[in-house]
Amino acid sequence: MFEEFAGRFYYLLHPRPTVVIGTLCPNGRTNFMPASWNTPVSEEPPTVAVAVDSEAYTRECLDYCGEASLNILSLDDVQLLYDLGSVSGRDVDKVSRFRLELLESLTIKPPGILRSLAILESKVVGKYLIGESVLYVFEVKKVRVRSGVADKFGFILSEKINIPLHASGRYFYGVGARKLATRKVSP
Ligand SMILES: Cc1cc2nc3c(=O)[nH]c(=O)nc-3n(C[C@H](O)[C@H](O)[C@H](O)COP(=O)(O)O)c2cc1C
Repeated sequence: MFEEFAGRFYYLLHPRPTVVIGTLCPNGRTNFMPASWNTPVSEEPPTVAVAVDSEAYTRECLDYCGEASLNILSLDDVQLLYDLGSVSGRDVDKVSRFRLELLESLTIKPPGILRSLAILESKVVGKYLIGESVLYVFEVKKVRVRSGVADKFGFILSEKINIPLHASGRYFYGVGARKLATRKVSP
């Protein structure tokens, strides 16, 4: 039996890994905004797309600087993640409000968040207005991970290393660290 879903359609596409978009803004500040509507798009060139509400200050900042650090925080920083999405860089200097220590980027101007598990340094290569959002397409120029948290297959999830998955609103899940291996399919 099926029934019509009573919630917003996209709740069924969550929980989702969340990135924190770091930008330089017209007000001279560095700003950070969490975004769970993100997805890898292409491997070559390495490309990621993120949907940003037209009203978010980050939309103006991306248009202003054309670059972004995409920061992946630890599950331990889930409150910070939520806090960064609860105020706007238009009104608040989030770097000083949340005492963020920054990490200089190697290929772009916006810095990353030092306590991140991973940072993707990215440049805007396209944008599409869709409904209330702007879908930004980024080419990833440099990928950096905190030592020991990932191997070539991705994060090594454990009791100590975990990433927040955004459920909805102020609710998050950690990733159940049960890794399932499937059989290889022969051609
Ligand atoms: C976990 C989380 C995920 C979010 N994901 C998105 C998203 O994918 N796209 C979006 O436009 N806003 C998203 N938001 C809301 C923005 O982060 C929020 O509006 C933020 O205050 C915008 O900041 P800014 O005005 O400094 O850019 C999310 C908020 C949270 C807490």
